[in-house]
Amino acid sequence: ERSYTLTLLPGDGIGPEVVAVAKDVLSLTASLEGIKFHFKEMPIGGSALDATGVPLPDETLDTAKGSDAVLLGAIGGYKWDKNEKHLKPETGLLQLRAGLCVYANLRPAVVLPQLVHASTLKKEVAEEVDLMVVRELTGGIYFGKPRGFGTNDNNEDIGFNTEVYSASEIDRIARVGFEVARKRNGKLCSVDKANVLEASMLWRKRVTMLASEYPDVELSHMYVDNAAMQLIRDPKQFDTIVTNNIFGDILSDEASMLTGSIGMLPSASIGESGPGLFEPIHGSAPDIAGQDKANPLATVLSAAMLLKYGLGEESAAKRIETAVIETLNRGFRTGDIFSSGMVFIYQLFSFIFFYLILQFSCCYL
Ligand code: NAD
Ligand code: IPM
Ligand code: MN
Repeated sequence: ERSYTLTLLPGDGIGPEVVAVAKDVLSLTASLEGIKFHFKEMPIGGSALDATGVPLPDETLDTAKGSDAVLLGAIGGYKWDKNEKHLKPETGLLQLRAGLCVYANLRPAVVLPQLVHASTLKKEVAEEVDLMVVRELTGGIYFGKPRGFGTNDNNEDIGFNTEVYSASEIDRIARVGFEVARKRNGKLCSVDKANVLEASMLWRKRVTMLASEYPDVELSHMYVDNAAMQLIRDPKQFDTIVTNNIFGDILSDEASMLTGSIGMLPSASIGESGPGLFEPIHGSAPDIAGQDKANPLATVLSAAMLLKYGLGEESAAKRIETAVIETLNRGFRTGDIFSSGMVFIYQLFSFIFFYLILQFSCCYL
């Protein structure tokens, strides 16, 4: 029997709600696939701050490092918004990503035919969109130094950050971009701001240099402002997008609205070795936390990515993806993806259970 240790990091807000659903789905999938999971639940973010005084306790990082994969809900909330930088929930998440060295963040945005009407875009624009944002996750302006607060020559308060990328940091994420594009449609669009920023100029130079090693991949470059516009104008022109940390953050939230809701978008963060980190791209949604309204599918699909990219358990991943589709086919919707004629539900988990079992008993797969 294949056996894995999974670290669960529920976090704050809707994080615990959506991770609870994903855990149930993982448990059931495991029993259907003959896999054994040992779950270790650890604190991170605001709840870790309240319990231990830091947003990423050493035991949490150690447990994550010692496991086969990590599933995170979300962190953050009003209560901690005014905390100093090192005592912010968000800092805990950045420390986790850096600590696990997961520099490549894969964020797929797929418009499912069942949800075309949930998109705020016209059907012709949104339908059949299937793109992947490859976001650099452990560098750029999020981590660059110098950073901080100070005063300028006029004795005015200033806050400052540095966008910095080394050639090797660019090369390794660009390679992931080329590899991902190669397995998809063979089209890679590198998004930067090379008309203004030095870090982007180096980015474009290195990506262009590497292209000769991937002759089967068609490389293009786009400035980020244009990319933001093109994603709404004609999203089908994109297959794989590779970009830096902050542009990837923003463009993936934008891409999520093609699919109907940010509550649908999963992600996988991987490094050279060690466990991967899997999390929905959305945050802790404090505006709906505790109301049983959160869409758990981004986290459930992140669990599927965990099985596929983190553990190589492709058939288990497929089972979850199919169950999600089947659940949507039956018309079940949380509020964020609700449209007329559908069945409103608070939490999807019982239905996902139902369809997982259904598939098992009638050999659906
Ligand atoms: P958010 O993603 O939490 O919410 C944005 C909007 O989307 C809200 O209206 C929310 O209700 C909705 N939404 C998000 N997830 C949803 C889901 N699963 N189902 C239904 N609706 C959903 O972004 P925000 O409001 O800008 O940030 C809130 C907090 O989350 C902040 O503290 C922020 O720092 C943090 N955050 C954390 C992560 C993370 O943990 N990876 C990501 C983004 C933001
Ligand atoms: C995300 C979030 C995080 C980020 C924050 C909460 C640190 O927005 O996962 O997309 O900016 O990476
Ligand atoms: Mn984000």
